[in-house]
Amino acid sequence: MGQCRYARCKIAFYALFLLLLQACGPSATESPPQPLSSWPPLPEPYYNRYTKARYELGERLFFEKRLSAGNAVSCASCHKPERAFADNVPVSPGAGNSAFGFRNSPGLLNIGYAPYLMAEGGVPSLEHFSVAPLQEAAEMNQNLALSIKKLQADTVYLRLFRAAYDTLPSIKYMARALAVYQRYLLSSGSPYDAYLAGDTEALSPQAQKGMTLFFSSRTGCSGCHSGFLFSDFGFHDIGLSVKENDPGRWRLTGSESDRNRFKTPSLRNVALTGPYMHDGRFGTLEEVLEHYRQGGEKTPNRSTLVRPLDLRPDEVQAIISFLHSLTDTVPYKKSYL
Ligand code: HEC
Ligand code: HEC
Repeated sequence: MGQCRYARCKIAFYALFLLLLQACGPSATESPPQPLSSWPPLPEPYYNRYTKARYELGERLFFEKRLSAGNAVSCASCHKPERAFADNVPVSPGAGNSAFGFRNSPGLLNIGYAPYLMAEGGVPSLEHFSVAPLQEAAEMNQNLALSIKKLQADTVYLRLFRAAYDTLPSIKYMARALAVYQRYLLSSGSPYDAYLAGDTEALSPQAQKGMTLFFSSRTGCSGCHSGFLFSDFGFHDIGLSVKENDPGRWRLTGSESDRNRFKTPSLRNVALTGPYMHDGRFGTLEEVLEHYRQGGEKTPNRSTLVRPLDLRPDEVQAIISFLHSLTDTVPYKKSYL
């Protein structure tokens, strides 16, 4: 009898211990994750600066399925950490498989540097964005008021919102916490970065050949995929045949000169983020390169940089090998869950 009570007490003790462990979390450090030392400082709005409490709340919300109809999907269902926060299907199913979006889920690493969001550039910052997908029928399909109700009924969230923003759970601060978390999703550094830092053996001879081609006027790749993130954040028509439902930046501006233009994506971790392009039409990097080699179709605003390229098969392979060298050496690790 006494022994039995002891066993129960022990179980209760372990349960409490586990609960505490979960609540306190194996947590992020006090200082924010840092970008690579060669990169510019990460911009951050004065009204929503990093704190550990905000980051942890944002991380928990990012993986929170209760924000969706039927508690079915979280942000992470479409932005998968192991895929550099992209999805591995052309278009991701929303909550309850209710509806399909019409675009491919992009990766989110280094998103804090993006001057605007979405393929047509219609969202000015992470703070503006984060709540948009919550109500989308094609995404999380749940009324925001209901999401907030669920959070307000949860003592863990009551505590976390208090610690992060000294407030009750609300739409505004949910968006802010999600923004803090996403801003600090940073690349850990790739073989290419090691090469730039002086380790000449970090890239194979094939990848080095691909790098030379990538930055050459023969291919023109770096005309748009420029800078430390391999994106000029410009909007270009790269000769992808137009699909009825998606006129690109035209959706935002209504200007014919913006038809079929899409934001240049970063190429960091591109080996992990397929399928490719705004609609996920290409499954592999080989298909992407074949598109560029042929020069694309005669679309309304096709860039002059996109034209048939005279590349041998081994040169195409070298470029693909270079693109693989942009994958982070240390994969992203969740600090929570
Ligand atoms: C059902 C899939 C799905 C879910 C769930 C989802 N997203 Fe997305 N997300 C997408 C797609 C698709 C796009 C690209 C939209 C576009 O470009 O028009 C996107 C774009 C984004 C972008 C802009 C990226 C860029 O490069 O401009 C951010 C930031 C983002 N999502 C964050 C979130 C957050 C935060 C959540 C959870 C609150 C979330 N997403 C939930 C599919 C999803
Ligand atoms: C005129 C500007 C421009 C040039 C030149 C260019 N790109 Fe792109 N690239 C883009 C844009 C814009 C997209 C996205 C298009 C879309 O989403 O529909 C893109 C998409 C990609 C993607 C898919 C990324 C993803 O996450 O879906 C890869 C890979 C890529 N480009 C590699 C290259 C290579 C290699 C070259 C040179 C052979 C090149 N690009 C030349 C602008 C350009």
